[in-house]
Amino acid sequence: MKIETQLAHAGLCTDRNTGAISTPIHQTATFRHPAVDVSTGYDYSRTINPTRQVLEKVMAELEKGERGFAFASGMAAITAVLMLFASGDHIMVSNDLYGGTYRVLEKSFKQWGLSTTYVNTSRLAEVQEKIIPGKTKAILIESPTNPLMNITDLRKIVSLATENGILTIVDNTFMTPYLQQPLELGVDIVLHSGTKYLGGHNDVLSGIVVTRSSEFSDKIGFIQNSTGAILGPQDSWLMLRGIKTLALRMEKQQQNAGKIVAWLSQNPKVKNVYYPGLPEHPGFEIQSRQSRGFGAMLSFRVQNANLVTKIINRVKIITYAESLGGVETLITYPVKQTHGDIPPEIRAEIGVTEDLIRLSVGIEDVNDLIEDLDQAIGEGEKDI
Ligand SMILES: Cc1ncc(COP(=O)(O)O)c(C=O)c1O
Repeated sequence: MKIETQLAHAGLCTDRNTGAISTPIHQTATFRHPAVDVSTGYDYSRTINPTRQVLEKVMAELEKGERGFAFASGMAAITAVLMLFASGDHIMVSNDLYGGTYRVLEKSFKQWGLSTTYVNTSRLAEVQEKIIPGKTKAILIESPTNPLMNITDLRKIVSLATENGILTIVDNTFMTPYLQQPLELGVDIVLHSGTKYLGGHNDVLSGIVVTRSSEFSDKIGFIQNSTGAILGPQDSWLMLRGIKTLALRMEKQQQNAGKIVAWLSQNPKVKNVYYPGLPEHPGFEIQSRQSRGFGAMLSFRVQNANLVTKIINRVKIITYAESLGGVETLITYPVKQTHGDIPPEIRAEIGVTEDLIRLSVGIEDVNDLIEDLDQAIGEGEKDI
């Protein structure tokens, strides 16, 4: 079955008793047992809930993994995965990454003895160099990275990790399984902020983890049940509803993004455009090999940082907000929003500077979006 069909059929007719097309929302905390030592398979909704169970199965199938797990947010999913490690362990993480991941590592996990090295995971030699034998337990990768869209060769990183007995974890939020299936490339664990493309409508927070083998399924299952940051039944249903249109949304958003990238690349006030679909992007070839597309996230740098505030204040159709992946186009200022918790010197080192703007392109008419950007970027030298 092709992924478009899988997506459209997410949660279809899961209630065999009624034949309901849409998955029922089982808004219950607990379940009656028919008798002592007799169970329906459901006991308590932190452990298992039929609505969440459908979503988890759908995500496992889409990512071609063994088991899926749905959490209350992307950060709850990341936290559950990080709980696989113990005090004294070391992990390597993409140096250009979502600021919240950096924050949880530095402010929470560090105090419990998990050490982290941030590295440009697109440079294999650097990754190899930073492995601490016996201590490094995992590499956590965003590809493309947030917000600079660096691409890591996932096959190569998997083979390096395997040689060194290290686990690979990919945050697949920007791509979704529609465009990229890291488990197929040998990655061990995939995670998502389901808040983004999977949900797709900026109306639900969620996180997803999918594991490739039973070893990690059992461990994540234990962590999910024992720590309890599960996704509720209503939100699980919203996720199933969003997932059904993922292919359509992704195609349109990606198409719009390509056109905006072409327009921005010609604009004299724009210094650089970061999008892996640009043939001159250093990751273009790798992305073409390991993914089915380039996605709908892009960043650009303007000639003068003073212009950023003006652009953001002037946009009328595009909305200034954090987050990404929804049907509405959002403009984000990484230094003040998503990456505000990363120290300025580290941001400067990786290039997340005051002149950088990130766009999450939606499904609107692309000409409206370009016209909006055009009037916001403005004309004349006075803004430069
Ligand atoms: C790539 C990436 N991973 C994880 C997260 C965290 O997800 P959530 O906001 O759902 O907790 C985000 C949020 O922006 C993100 O962009």
